[in-house]
Amino acid sequence: MTQIRIWDLPTRIFHWALALSVIGLVITGNVGGNAMVWHFRLGYCVGSLLIFRFVWGFVGGFWSLWRQFALSPLTLKSYLFSKDPSVNYLGHNPTGSWSVLAILFFLTAQVGSGLISDDEIANAGPLTHLVSEKTILSATYWHTEVGKLVILILVLVHILAIAWYFYRKKINLVKPMLTGDKSTPSEAALNEPASLDRPIDWLKALVVIAISAYVIYRLVNLGP
Ligand code: HEM
Repeated sequence: MTQIRIWDLPTRIFHWALALSVIGLVITGNVGGNAMVWHFRLGYCVGSLLIFRFVWGFVGGFWSLWRQFALSPLTLKSYLFSKDPSVNYLGHNPTGSWSVLAILFFLTAQVGSGLISDDEIANAGPLTHLVSEKTILSATYWHTEVGKLVILILVLVHILAIAWYFYRKKINLVKPMLTGDKSTPSEAALNEPASLDRPIDWLKALVVIAISAYVIYRLVNLGP
């Protein structure tokens, strides 16, 4: 067996920063009051991380690229119904690919709706002045009643799926998300490119996250 770099450092930092921010958002959203200052800040962090991940899917390590996501319905069908235990994916497998896309999509909708939500007590998103009252009402309903629940369910399924791979299929997916590496038969590794994960790639990631954060900063400061 050979170790092969799958998740580059930027993707791993992205993942754990996203997970911590989402946990923080759930807590601060439920606590309310003064904690809402941090709810807003963490929302901006998630917004920046989502832009970063979108761009990283074009310029990041090989296995983080969007084109490596196994999204074809046929691949999904054969993966779900395959009895062959050797069918193993180095990157996201077909169910993983779809669930990751769903998480990223609904998080984007959650950040977007948060920007134009208003609890009509003390907290209003920074872009409420740009939209109509009707849009604010719909966005607030989505943000507080629907989107939050969908994300909680998706994250729960995400964690249960990872536990299922560990206990039932004896595949540890968490370790590669911590160390970056997966082990694969040496012959297979010869045909599979590793994700580049050099200091120059980290510098590229720093530039991308800085630009992403700047875009969010400019967006939330769009004045009347
Ligand atoms: C709020 C919590 C979480 C969110 C929003 C989240 C979101 C995500 C996202 C977006 C990815 C795709 C990474 C990428 O390609 O950039 C991912 C992958 C992954 N996550 Fe999470 N995650 C959360 C919590 C966790 C936790 C608690 C664990 C560990 C128990 C975990 C383990 C993993 C693993 C192992 C992968 C890679 C799966 C694969 O190999 O296909 N995640 N997660």
